[in-house]
Amino acid sequence: MKPLRIALTKGRLEKKTTELFERAGYDCSGLRDKGRRLIIPVGDGIEAVLAKAPDVITYVEHGVCDVGIVGKDTIMESGRNFYEVLDLGFGKCRFALAGPKGLDFYSGYSARRIATKYPHVARTFFDSKCMDVEIVKIEGSVELAPLLGLSDAIVDIVETGATLRENGLQVIEDICGVSARMIVNVASMKLRKTETEKLIKDMERCLAAD
Ligand code: PRP
Repeated sequence: MKPLRIALTKGRLEKKTTELFERAGYDCSGLRDKGRRLIIPVGDGIEAVLAKAPDVITYVEHGVCDVGIVGKDTIMESGRNFYEVLDLGFGKCRFALAGPKGLDFYSGYSARRIATKYPHVARTFFDSKCMDVEIVKIEGSVELAPLLGLSDAIVDIVETGATLRENGLQVIEDICGVSARMIVNVASMKLRKTETEKLIKDMERCLAAD
């Protein structure tokens, strides 16, 4: 039978994901010693695929990966043609509206300009306040935008707050908390029921023991 394919988010979530799988009894020696390989066997019958966060969702939605481990931030920004089955409890941070220290963001009548890697999340947040804003999509280091005068404020992920602090910015308003989630392809949930259920149960057991 084909191995169950799990798309793992490279980078920030990678170490904790590997630790979780190890605690659940899966052989992660390949992941620990992966070099530049992108598809890596994890124990028997599982293959890990290392991908960038938005691509984890694309691979799971298209069914080329059965399962994905990805941040709630990426899920909130994406479409939702998959099941979100578990909050893995790590990779905790929050979405926030932030801007230069001393900015009175909600005063004045002209539409504010917001820079963000998450235009959908930002639009939904301001729509909920019935606020008209202009949104500019930035690919990374969003904190630069207000410093360079491109935007009044940003909507971004805040983890320790160090990036904001060290760049003279501060949180104006928290939007919501985020953490790593397990997602499952809609068809795989039925067609690979035994394997996906075992994986979910193994993870749940580990999380309950934490
Ligand atoms: C994220 C986020 C902030 C930073 C927040 O960026 O976009 O810039 O981390 O973390 P902190 O509160 O602990 O300082 P990331 O490091 O993923 O890089 P990027 O901005 O290039 O996407």
